[in-house]
Amino acid sequence: MKINIPITKTFFDNDEKEKILKPLETGWVVQGPFVHKFQDKFKEFTKSKHALATSNCTTALHLGLEAMGITKGDKVIVPSFTWVSSANAVEYTGAEVVFCDINLKTFNIDETKIEKLIESDQKIKAIMPVNLFGLCANMPSIMKIAKEYKLKVIEDSACGFDAWIEDKHSGSFGDCGCFSFHPRKSITTGEGGMLITDDEKIANLVSQLKDHGANRSDFQRHNQKENFFLPDFDLKGYNYRMTDIQGALGVAQMDKKKIIMDGRRNIASRYDEALSEILQLTKPNVPYGYKHGYQSYVCIFSDGENLSKLNIENIDRLHLKRNNFMKKLEKMNIATRQGTHAIHTLGYYRNKYKLKDENFLMSYAAEKLSVSLPIYPGMNDQEFKYIISNIKHILK
Ligand SMILES: Cc1ncc(COP(=O)(O)O)c(C=O)c1O
Repeated sequence: MKINIPITKTFFDNDEKEKILKPLETGWVVQGPFVHKFQDKFKEFTKSKHALATSNCTTALHLGLEAMGITKGDKVIVPSFTWVSSANAVEYTGAEVVFCDINLKTFNIDETKIEKLIESDQKIKAIMPVNLFGLCANMPSIMKIAKEYKLKVIEDSACGFDAWIEDKHSGSFGDCGCFSFHPRKSITTGEGGMLITDDEKIANLVSQLKDHGANRSDFQRHNQKENFFLPDFDLKGYNYRMTDIQGALGVAQMDKKKIIMDGRRNIASRYDEALSEILQLTKPNVPYGYKHGYQSYVCIFSDGENLSKLNIENIDRLHLKRNNFMKKLEKMNIATRQGTHAIHTLGYYRNKYKLKDENFLMSYAAEKLSVSLPIYPGMNDQEFKYIISNIKHILK
């Protein structure tokens, strides 16, 4: 019997249903009380001074870059293996992207390659490490480099909910950090994002910029006397606000974060155990002191080969085998995905910056050889065993 296993599933119950009715009943459906409550819960959980909800993570990244002063003529270091919008957000500001390859063991920016880039280009003003799939980049080392060269740091923590290094939450190392609540993320509001920062100046700017540049929000105005006076708009702002319906979902999801995250971590540790016998797949590596959030559970399809000497030819050869493996899983109704993109190979970036696949070989390998396995909190024993027995059968 075939079982249908999606790559992920959202985790909602009656609380979400009850809470999203509230804005409909009160009529306050734009950024308001629920968004504020969601921000407060997020701020407390990540131990940051400010949390500002946005329409999605990409807009949060754009606002964060702008609030840090990144503009035309500047350059920002971005890992070449990430979701395309990490780089797109840099392009929105008029600045240019400088790609940096990743470490295949963690899928995160290779911090040992950053200094060379900085030393060869005076226009580099910021670094955007990405805490990919729920694992923090080597933030302590990156912050040290940033301090030495006086660079700003914006963490793309789209996937980094409940990801930690010791007792510091992902997104709280840099000047600011941005999160996504897209349904593929651990907690979701449909679309949605959050920027956290300890810097009051960045917080004030982001708060204003996301609200058309208004120097007083609708919510503040409606809670004051003489609310017929409209605010001044003294910045060129955007409409990047989160609705209160999304805010209500965010509050409900924060209230059940422990169930969600325990569920994800339980599946991840079961995968770790089951895959330790399967030499063709290299399971995610978690450095000492790091706590993985498992937004995704991403393996490398090595087919049992030693990957220390990778080149385009052997990556392409293994890529065909990986695709064959994924096709066979799909035939059994088990969804998989590649981890994410080697964005230097995507049309826009390849053409604009004249890049070749081999320029960032580890990112190329990560795109061609990664396999993201299904992970969601409600996965039952029968589903888990079905996945593992099919993986074993296909790879035997
Ligand atoms: C690493 C990374 N950055 C940014 C984003 C963009 O998030 P959003 O869809 O909320 O704009 C994503 C979403 O998939 C992501 O994975």
